[in-house]
Amino acid sequence: MRAIVQSSYGAPEDVLALTEIEPPIPKDDEVLVRVRATSVNTPDWATIIGQPYLLRGQMGLRCPRRPVRGTDVAGIVEAVGSAVSEFRSGDPVFGAGLDDARVGTFAELTAVPAQRLILKPAALSFEDAAACVMSGLTALDAVRVAEVGPGTRMLVNGAAGGVGTFALRMAKRLGAEVTGVCGTRNVNFLRELGADHVVDYTREEFVAGDARYDVVLDNVLNHSPAKTVRVLAPRGILVPNGMGISGGWFSGLPRMAHAALLGVLRTDVRWARCRVTRENLGELATLIVGGLGVVTDRVFPLEEAAAAVAHMLGHHARGKVVLAMAPSARSA
Ligand SMILES: NC(=O)c1ccc[n+]([C@@H]2O[C@H](COP(=O)([O-])OP(=O)(O)OC[C@H]3O[C@@H](n4cnc5c(N)ncnc54)[C@H](OP(=O)(O)O)[C@@H]3O)[C@@H](O)[C@H]2O)c1
Repeated sequence: MRAIVQSSYGAPEDVLALTEIEPPIPKDDEVLVRVRATSVNTPDWATIIGQPYLLRGQMGLRCPRRPVRGTDVAGIVEAVGSAVSEFRSGDPVFGAGLDDARVGTFAELTAVPAQRLILKPAALSFEDAAACVMSGLTALDAVRVAEVGPGTRMLVNGAAGGVGTFALRMAKRLGAEVTGVCGTRNVNFLRELGADHVVDYTREEFVAGDARYDVVLDNVLNHSPAKTVRVLAPRGILVPNGMGISGGWFSGLPRMAHAALLGVLRTDVRWARCRVTRENLGELATLIVGGLGVVTDRVFPLEEAAAAVAHMLGHHARGKVVLAMAPSARSA
């Protein structure tokens, strides 16, 4: 089968190549999925450039321990392990593999634990199903852990990105008053998505404003958490999310540690996680089909995975970046 194989760390176009490899053999509790679409997430580009360097021990010192990236998947069941009874060959499914999968989802076939898949509703396209998993489940967890509800004043930093576009729209559906932070190009876009207020970070810093929020979901970590918590209302909740975009030796790790320390000392800090369970996947699918939708920036063919990753590495993707199989590869 064909897969996008990573040879070392560096620029996507230098280290990713479409290569013929052996397909994975599913374990007893796994499902072999013929991939129709997958999407690019932060862990993918971070492992491709090999940053933060501090995590190289975990990723693999000189090259990644596992050469095929990708976790989100939507596709057709090809075969099932001996202990899997819920799916059969031909079922359309979606979900996510594991970060340490032997073969990730940037491939024609991938093996995924059955517990991390559900049947794909017919009303959900393969592209949207693949786009929603990691970002949508993280956003779902964020609005849950922060107890977002009617009247909650919520600020989403990085509102135009993969997690942000889901979080903004989920919070609006829960009745929150949402402020989105983005660059000039996305001001009208966020208004169209339903943001009540938009802060253009090229003109003003939200951390310097007078507005106060019950919840701040920070997907960018471009400000010190000590500054960010100043815009929280009394009993406000900070949800720091992710590694930030700085790269280098530590990327967002010091800011995450700083936020954790503030959580111990004086601030209500809660952590969002991408919890891939069947229940959560089902809830996400219902939300999306029920009108939430998916914001996709661009769909690239698998062969152009390097360009797709590079596009995301620019840190200005609007919603999700998707990789889809060309029709000829679907039954190859
Ligand atoms: N907890 C988990 O399990 C989990 C799961 C998935 C992701 N994450 C984390 O979530 C974070 C966001 O991921 P993502 O997939 O949403 O990223 P993304 O799609 O790459 O985010 C891109 C967006 O970031 C915005 N942005 C760039 N610089 C900004 C700035 N200075 N201020 C405000 N917005 C800015 C851009 O908007 P403009 O073009 O308008 O600048 C763009 O729309 C990452 O750090 C990731 O590690 C965590």
